[in-house]
Amino acid sequence: MLNKIGLIGGGNIGGVLMQEVVKRQLAREVAMVDIKEPDLAKGKALDIAEGSSTIGADVRCIGGKEYDVIEGSDLVINTAGVPRTTRPDGTIPTREELLATNLKITDAVSEGIQKYCPKATIVSVANPLDAIVYKLYLNLKPAKNKLMGMAGALDSARYRHFVAFEANVSVENVTAMVLGGHGDSMLPIRSACRVAGMPVDDFVSAERLAEIETRTRKAGGEVVKLLGSGSAFVSPAWGVLDMVEAIAYDKRKIVPTCVLLTGEYGVDGLFIGVPVILGKNGVEQVVEMELTAEEKEAFKNSVAAVQKTVDEVDSMS
Ligand code: APR
Repeated sequence: MLNKIGLIGGGNIGGVLMQEVVKRQLAREVAMVDIKEPDLAKGKALDIAEGSSTIGADVRCIGGKEYDVIEGSDLVINTAGVPRTTRPDGTIPTREELLATNLKITDAVSEGIQKYCPKATIVSVANPLDAIVYKLYLNLKPAKNKLMGMAGALDSARYRHFVAFEANVSVENVTAMVLGGHGDSMLPIRSACRVAGMPVDDFVSAERLAEIETRTRKAGGEVVKLLGSGSAFVSPAWGVLDMVEAIAYDKRKIVPTCVLLTGEYGVDGLFIGVPVILGKNGVEQVVEMELTAEEKEAFKNSVAAVQKTVDEVDSMS
């Protein structure tokens, strides 16, 4: 159990995170900060706190508009951002405008972490994932084990779900990993996908697997279209919680995670999704797995896509 988890951003994902942290009793205290008026974070924290006696969870919940609520957190989860929605004047922000806004929000997030919990392990979820994690790194320069992005946990969960459904077996039987960046270049690793330890190809045809991999890459957009407003929020929250549980209970669980590579996979200085061992120190170790020649090529392309994002962030910083 951790002492205190700080949640930055109390929107859809932040709300599920607070509920689940309380239900799973992952920390003695959970604190949420959100700038939304009149006081979204305080309201959500109060709502959840008032239900905690029903489920018998002795977790203190606090929330507020100021970052001081997260003071002393051992671990913070960042979901602060604005989605791409129509402005009151009817215009839609360009991708660059949206990125600039979210980078500014990340500056505020960094300042809050620096001031109130500079030693915290940071798990960032806000999109565009690769850009925001890199910006947090530029601002905070944390140790390599302390900063990570959640993308692979979610992308892999989606892949596992699609494979299990197709093979008509339990999701518990399917292990899989999706690596690389968190965009269209993400990389489902078919060679590492197993159904109860057996190669996935024994259960699903190559043709269907290709379709599943394409669907996995576009899974976020599929949910956005169906919801009408906002994006997926339960599955991303569960992805983060998988990582947080691994850290809180020192599980040493291997989870595909966006981390700073310093030579591993031939990459230096970029945050890329790769398998890592998560434990009490955060990122305990990067695991270098064997990739097929084709996968290596796709990994390179994904790294190039992340580099492009990083260049864009650099040019705006
Ligand atoms: N500090 C704290 N919170 C902030 C700040 C800030 N400077 N700026 C914005 N926020 C808050 C918003 O007020 C909002 O409540 O961040 C919250 C984001 O919540 P949602 O819009 O509901 O988004 P959510 O679905 O939770 O997703 C959060 O994760 O998966 C990504 O693409 C997703 O970037 C998005 C993020």
